[in-house]
Amino acid sequence: MTPEIDLPVYPDECDAFGHLNQASFLALFERARWEMLMRGPGMDVFSRAGAWPAVRKTVIDYHAAAFPGDVLRFQQSLTHLGRTSFVMRQTARRVKDDVLIATAEFVFVCIDRAGKPIPVPSEFSGFMGARGSRPDDARRFTVNGVNLAVEVRGEGPAVLFVHGYPLDRSIWSHQIAALDGFRRIAPDLRGMGASDAPDLGYSMETYAADLAALLDALGVDEIVLCGLSMGGYIAFEFLRRWRRRVRGLVLMDTRAEADSAEGRRGRDAAAADGRERGAEAIAEAMLPRILGSTTRSGASLTVERVRAMMASTPVAGIVGALTAMRDRPDSTPLLPTLAGLPTLVMVGEEDVLTPPASARAMAEAIPGARLVMVPGAGHLSPVERPVETTRALLEFLRSLQ
Ligand code: MLT
Repeated sequence: MTPEIDLPVYPDECDAFGHLNQASFLALFERARWEMLMRGPGMDVFSRAGAWPAVRKTVIDYHAAAFPGDVLRFQQSLTHLGRTSFVMRQTARRVKDDVLIATAEFVFVCIDRAGKPIPVPSEFSGFMGARGSRPDDARRFTVNGVNLAVEVRGEGPAVLFVHGYPLDRSIWSHQIAALDGFRRIAPDLRGMGASDAPDLGYSMETYAADLAALLDALGVDEIVLCGLSMGGYIAFEFLRRWRRRVRGLVLMDTRAEADSAEGRRGRDAAAADGRERGAEAIAEAMLPRILGSTTRSGASLTVERVRAMMASTPVAGIVGALTAMRDRPDSTPLLPTLAGLPTLVMVGEEDVLTPPASARAMAEAIPGARLVMVPGAGHLSPVERPVETTRALLEFLRSLQ
């Protein structure tokens, strides 16, 4: 936990109406960050590593006014850690009544004296907490205007794993470790995991184009495409545009229909919640629905792992994915056209987000598709029932050879 920093509001920081003014808000957020470092690894934690944290973007949401004499409590967390960049979220609450005054998100890039990006000092990321400092065995590729973190393992026919929302490539860790004999490729989608999180430009088309460009960069032409949930929505888009490149399809815990009108309103409400209260709030709201009841009642380590994964997703990536999902087209007309493409549909028996009934209907609409139910799993079969999921995948992959 980083320390909470209390700072008073002085009269000379307020405007003619007596409110804390915007420039002073920025200054207070900045002062809180340096105070936090002073009480932790030292204000020179960056300069000791020859780095300077340069702010590249700031988004502040003002929730309530603050006045002279108020004392504001600042909390800061690292919500995204890239190789040379990081995102810090700060909140300011009034101490006397705990009212939320403002939230802010700052995107930093660490640069050297020549202005060249250099790695974020590990002492800083360590101080900010384990969530931001997971060891990163990813390779990085800049494709389609965005820098993506990608895990690539093994040799053989290529399998592209596409994760869902608001998750990252680590949902595939068992499959990546275990599927010997295949070239396993698992990217973090833009806006999630250790990939860049631009502010705008999210759509199923963009995600699919990122993946096609990534395969080009890796020199991979043909793949078995395996998408979980939103990863399935992206797979449909990929198929519409690059069907020739797909020699097998796995649709896991996903569905083909577009959002209903109510579902679309829910996406907008979730985006507003994410903007206002951050990724932690999204994680709290999703946790009971994303995991099956068996996992929730008996696998606390998995629950904590999934909570941390969701809570560390950048807000820009959350809002972007919600917009992309809200606006995605109905893919049910695509299903009958997939005749001839070997397809495996998998679903957790306890999945309430994309329930077994939708999976069954989807499998029935794709000529020749097989359906596998995963007992004891909710919406995240590869995480909740890794061994069973990998076994079913392996059987399918071998059947293609
Ligand atoms: C996902 O897991 O990708 C999402 O829950 C899908 C959705 O919300 O439609």
